[in-house]
Amino acid sequence: MIPSQSEFIDAADLASLPPGRGRTVELRGKRLALFHIGDQFHAIDDACPHRGGSLGAGWCENGEVFCPLHGWAFDVATGTCKTRPDRPVKSYPTEVRDGRIWVAL
Ligand code: FES
Repeated sequence: MIPSQSEFIDAADLASLPPGRGRTVELRGKRLALFHIGDQFHAIDDACPHRGGSLGAGWCENGEVFCPLHGWAFDVATGTCKTRPDRPVKSYPTEVRDGRIWVAL
């Protein structure tokens, strides 16, 4: 089901997320990792399911982010863990509006 526009929460300024990069934001008490890959924006849970590394601070390459602590790899669009497929993170719908990134929790 596609969330209605009113369910999206203002997460960040577009200018704060250069292409190929990620960052961490806190929305309603929840830490999310945002990514700007190509012309797409993605949001997944920030905490790595291994030992809680911040995925928003990870290294991005070819649509994947590598956890800064021990290098587990995650697909930034789906949250699938490439290193341990049984340990994914949740992904969230995003949209761009008024020069900002919005996320549906
Ligand atoms: S905390 Fe992420 S790989 Fe260990």
